[in-house]
Amino acid sequence: MPAPSSQPFCASSIIGTGSYMPEKVLTNEDLSKIVDTSDEWITSRTGIKERRIAAPEQATSDLASEAARRAMASAGVAPEEIQLIIVATVTADMFFPSTACFVQKKIGAVNAVCFDISAACSGFLYALQVARHFINTGNRTTALVIGAEKLSSLINWKDRNTCVLFGDGAGAVVIRRADESVEAPGRVLSTVMGTDGTLADVLKVPGGGSACPITPENVESHPNTIHMEGRETFKHAVTRMLEASQQALEIAGLTAADVSLVIPHQANARIISAIAERLNLPLDRVFMNLDKYGNTSAATIPVALDEANKAGRLQKGDVVLLVAFGGGFTWASSVVRW
Ligand SMILES: CC(C)(COP(=O)(O)OP(=O)(O)OC[C@H]1O[C@@H](n2cnc3c(N)ncnc32)[C@H](O)[C@@H]1OP(=O)(O)O)[C@@H](O)C(=O)NCCC(=O)NCCS
Repeated sequence: MPAPSSQPFCASSIIGTGSYMPEKVLTNEDLSKIVDTSDEWITSRTGIKERRIAAPEQATSDLASEAARRAMASAGVAPEEIQLIIVATVTADMFFPSTACFVQKKIGAVNAVCFDISAACSGFLYALQVARHFINTGNRTTALVIGAEKLSSLINWKDRNTCVLFGDGAGAVVIRRADESVEAPGRVLSTVMGTDGTLADVLKVPGGGSACPITPENVESHPNTIHMEGRETFKHAVTRMLEASQQALEIAGLTAADVSLVIPHQANARIISAIAERLNLPLDRVFMNLDKYGNTSAATIPVALDEANKAGRLQKGDVVLLVAFGGGFTWASSVVRW
C-alpha cells in the first residue's frame, strides 16, 4: 500500500455531536422466530444482541435530520450557519435528489451546499475528510457531516447470513474551521482513506442499480438486498482497520499508547477485539455499542462518538481514534484531539 500523503490541514474541529436511533427494537430472540438462528449464535459470533428498525414511514433523511438537529443543538449552531451538508449513506431516500437535499429541507439549512457520499461503512470518515477539504480551502467554515442508514430496507429477511447483522440509525457532527493557533477541542488531527475495488463483489447490493435493474423476472432472487462473503470481509476488515489506524496515528505524530479511546466501526465484536489486541490496547479503551444497534454502516461511528461524548468518555485533550471498514472495499481512520 502506498504511503499516506502528508496533510498539513488548516484545522477543523468537531464542535457538536448528535444521534438518533429509531424506537423499534428487534432482538436476537425475535430473529430466531424468522430464520434458523439463535441468540447464542449471534451473540457469540458477532456480539450483537439487538438492533433498531425504522418505522415504515421513516426515510433515511428523517433519521439523518433528527441526528443533525441534535448535533446542531449540542454545537449551539443555527441551521442558517450550516454551509455544507454531506450525508454518508448506502440507503439514500431515492436515487436522486441526494438525501442531503432532503435533510436541508427538513432542518432549514438554507445556506448549505448538499450532497451524499457512497462509501458503505467507511462513508462517515470519507465524508469527514471531504468536509475538511472544503474547510481547508477556505470555501466553507461550518459543515454538518452525517452518517445515516435505513439498512432494514436492504435486508433479505430470509438470509440468516446477513439479516442478523444490520440495523438502522443516524449520527451527525458539526465541524467548524478552528484558529490554528488555538487548541480548539475536537480538532481532527489526521485522516487516511483507502479503497480496493478489486474486492467490490465481496460485499454488495447487486441489484436495483443500472447494472441489474429490478425486473419481475429477477425480483424473487432478492438482488436488491445485501450479499456478503462473511469470512472474506472479516479478514480484510481486521487487516485494513489496523493498517489505517497505525497510519492515521503516525501522521498525527502519535502512537497507540497515546490513544484514550478507540471508536471503531461497529460490525463485529471479534473484529474490534482483534484490532485492539494488535494495537495493544485494553478493551476498556475501546467503545462498543454494537450489542444494542448491530451494524448501522455509515452511522456507527458518529452514533458511537455521540454516545461516548454524552457519557463523558471524551475528556478535553483526549486522543480519539476513529476507524472504519466497509464495502468497496473501503477503509479510513481519523485521529481527533478532544
Ligand atoms: C458473518 C459472520 C458473523 C459469520 O461468522 P463466521 O464465524 O465467519 O461464520 P461462518 O461464515 O464460518 O459460518 C459458520 C456457520 O454458521 C452458519 N450461520 C451463518 N449465519 C448464521 C446465523 N445467523 N445463525 C446460525 N448459523 C448461521 C453458516 O451457515 C455456517 O454453517 P455451515 O458451517 O453449516 O456452513 C462473520 O464472518 C463476520 O462478522 N464477517 C464480517 C461481517 C461484516 O463485518 N460485515 C460488514 C463489514 S462492514
